[in-house]
Amino acid sequence: MGAAFEAAGGKMEFRDVIERRRSIRAYTSEPIDRNAIDRILHAVVRAPSAGNLQAVRVYVVRDQARRRRLAEAAQNQEFVASAPVDLVFFADPVRSRAK
Ligand SMILES: Cc1cc2nc3c(=O)[nH]c(=O)nc-3n(C[C@H](O)[C@H](O)[C@H](O)COP(=O)(O)O)c2cc1C
Repeated sequence: MGAAFEAAGGKMEFRDVIERRRSIRAYTSEPIDRNAIDRILHAVVRAPSAGNLQAVRVYVVRDQARRRRLAEAAQNQEFVASAPVDLVFFADPVRSRAK
C-alpha cells in the first residue's frame, strides 16, 4: 500500500500523482482562491534546497497587463497570459551565496 495524497476531489496514491501528472496549457476562467495559492506556496517552502537556503522568490501575478507582459517575455506563449494567475519563480543569487 502506498502513501495517499490529498488532490482535487479526494485522495490519490503518490504513484498515481507521478503517473498522471501532465502539463496543462488551457484554463477555465474559474477564479483561483487565496487558499489554493497559499497551499502551493507552502509546498514551495517545504521543498528541500541546498543548505536549506531557500534561495528562491515567488511572485504571484494576477494583474492581466503584467501576465500579458510575462507571456511576451516567455517567447509569446499565450497560455501564460490566459491563466488567471501566474507564479513566477526567481533564483536569488545573493541568498545563494549566504553560506
Ligand atoms: C524547466 C522547465 C521549463 C519548461 N518551459 C516550458 C515552456 O516554456 N513552455 C511550455 O509550454 N512548457 C514548458 N515546460 C513543460 C515541458 O515542456 C513539459 O513538462 C514536457 O513537454 C513534458 O510534458 P508533461 O509535463 O505533460 O509530461 C517546461 C518544463 C520544465 C521542467
